[in-house]
Amino acid sequence: MSHAPALRGLLLKTLGRPVIVRATDGAPVLDLPADLSGAEALVDLELPAVVAVDGHSYEVSTTSRSEREISGRVAVVTGGAQGFGAEIAKGLVDQGCFVYIADLNGDGAAAKSAELGSDVTHPITVNVADEDSVAAMAAEIERVTGGLDLVVSNAGIVRAGSVLEQDLGAFQLSTDINYVAFFLVTKHLGGLLARQHETSGGAWLTDIIQINSKSGLVGSNKNAAYAGSKFGGIGLVQSFALEMVEHGVKVNAICPGNFYDGPLWSDPVKGLFVQYLESGKVPGARTVADVKEFYESKVPMRRGATGVDVLRAIYYIVEQAYETGQALPVTGGQVMMN
Ligand SMILES: NC(=O)c1ccc[n+]([C@@H]2O[C@H](COP(=O)([O-])OP(=O)(O)OC[C@H]3O[C@@H](n4cnc5c(N)ncnc54)[C@H](O)[C@@H]3O)[C@@H](O)[C@H]2O)c1
Repeated sequence: MSHAPALRGLLLKTLGRPVIVRATDGAPVLDLPADLSGAEALVDLELPAVVAVDGHSYEVSTTSRSEREISGRVAVVTGGAQGFGAEIAKGLVDQGCFVYIADLNGDGAAAKSAELGSDVTHPITVNVADEDSVAAMAAEIERVTGGLDLVVSNAGIVRAGSVLEQDLGAFQLSTDINYVAFFLVTKHLGGLLARQHETSGGAWLTDIIQINSKSGLVGSNKNAAYAGSKFGGIGLVQSFALEMVEHGVKVNAICPGNFYDGPLWSDPVKGLFVQYLESGKVPGARTVADVKEFYESKVPMRRGATGVDVLRAIYYIVEQAYETGQALPVTGGQVMMN
């Protein structure tokens, strides 16, 4: 059994700021019993330090790289190997978080973890649309850090196509990864988040953030599988928010505009620019550049969304203690809420 959540909760309460508690085999400087009596002595210890609880060793560290409240959180980013997820993982590490990079592409997750620092990240191979795989991810997080403060449910796919022609398999794959997976991720990781609230005596709020899309707010021509799954995601966000509020878990969505520079759009073989050119979605477009110009001209701010734009929304949501169940557009003015 991992004592990390209880140890971390107690430290959250006594230090008033987050710490990272990881299982280790290092030699302890302080031995504590399972009930953690005597843990007050930790306040005077210079961190990082190795502490044994009931014979199990944990490294306790804190971060001082930033004053932002996000610093020191333990986060998981699904789909963290590339695109928005990779940018989010990097931004969170830069802010002093410990980040699980969880992706179907295990090699990509491992490479991103090595690039960002193996002391501040941990790669996990996961299929977010498979319940056993998501449960195994939760178990791994429980084993390594015990605690978790921030879930960024970001993994997603696009299968564009006309409702008159799209095959059911493509529609269902989109639904499984963009919609069903958010249920699985919340089901299996929500408990770890709730425990932070409980063990901190109700003093600590945690977050689930779904990276949704502007296509979760307005329909998308010849892209119904995607838009439908993203609209559904907003319904899950609102409903999970109502339930999880009693566990100190805020649940919100971020709805970015198009990330033209990321691989989803710009991949030269299977990127959306190529897909939309080939499906004839943009009337009169003859090149990828024509498709890009068509989309950029729809944005009042005349550019696509970037990882930094999405990160600023994440910081806002985490720091804002008085909001839940919202869908926050990050679209350069392309989608305006009523
Ligand atoms: N790119 C955009 O223009 C844009 C705009 C708005 C919203 N979004 C949303 O942002 C999120 C990320 O998009 P992106 O553009 O970075 O995509 P991307 O294709 O560049 O990266 C997606 C990542 O998710 C991983 N992934 C795919 N299926 C998975 C699964 N079943 N389990 C675990 N990991 C899986 C992939 O391996 C990949 O690393 C998606 O939810 C997408 O809908 C993207």
